[in-house]
Amino acid sequence: IVAALRPKSLLGRKVLVTAGPTFEAIDPVRGITNLSSGKMGFAIARAAREAGAEVTLVAGPVALATPRGVRRLDVRSAQEMHDAVVPIAAQYDVFVATAAVADWRPATLAPHKIKKDGKKLAPSFELTENPDILATVAALPKPPYCVGFAAESENLLAHARSKLERKRVPLVVGNLGPATFGKDHNSLLLVDAQGHRELPPGGGMADKQTLARLLVAEIAGRLAA
Ligand code: CTP
Ligand code: CA
Repeated sequence: IVAALRPKSLLGRKVLVTAGPTFEAIDPVRGITNLSSGKMGFAIARAAREAGAEVTLVAGPVALATPRGVRRLDVRSAQEMHDAVVPIAAQYDVFVATAAVADWRPATLAPHKIKKDGKKLAPSFELTENPDILATVAALPKPPYCVGFAAESENLLAHARSKLERKRVPLVVGNLGPATFGKDHNSLLLVDAQGHRELPPGGGMADKQTLARLLVAEIAGRLAA
């Protein structure tokens, strides 16, 4: 059915979504990043908007069009994403953290392009840990309903469970990669304190927009409960 005819399960709700990779600068022309496409996060923002929510999408560097009716804030680094999200997060009913936030950044930013200059040794970089945006939001005095993502290459259920506990969030959505990263189809595992369930139900693959709608319906149900 067309979007306009779907039930508005998030009418009157505010949803905040992070999406895409972050980029951690080494010097003015180089940096560290990852292969997140942002597709899943953008699909969730679109699905939440279709469900009637007021949606803010905080996006790292991605090559995707803004879903219709969604407010988009572009950021580059993990720190910028943190600084965009944390001050506004308490105003939202739901926070969905799909971003593949870089865990570390170079400890210092070189002010100019690092040159070879006939150096004998390749440069090495000290790294420092980035703030955990999801854990910070989940620890707010009145946090929104927080949904974490866990992209893993093995032991999906165990890793998703440990993230649920470590970040103190009510729901973690796991997926196995790298085969699905950047692709249009995926298969999700919903993990909460009660147990786990596959999306689409029964396993298998579904396109990311379908999965996003199923996940939004699931979140709306949890908010209403
Ligand atoms: N996340 C975040 N800020 C970070 C790191 C992660 O908000 N600095 C969020 C992600 O958006 C995701 C969830 O936390 O929703 C899990 O991210 P993940 O990278 O899987 O967890 P980590 O705790 O960083 O564990 P690891 O990378 O070691 O698996
Ligand atoms: Ca990580």
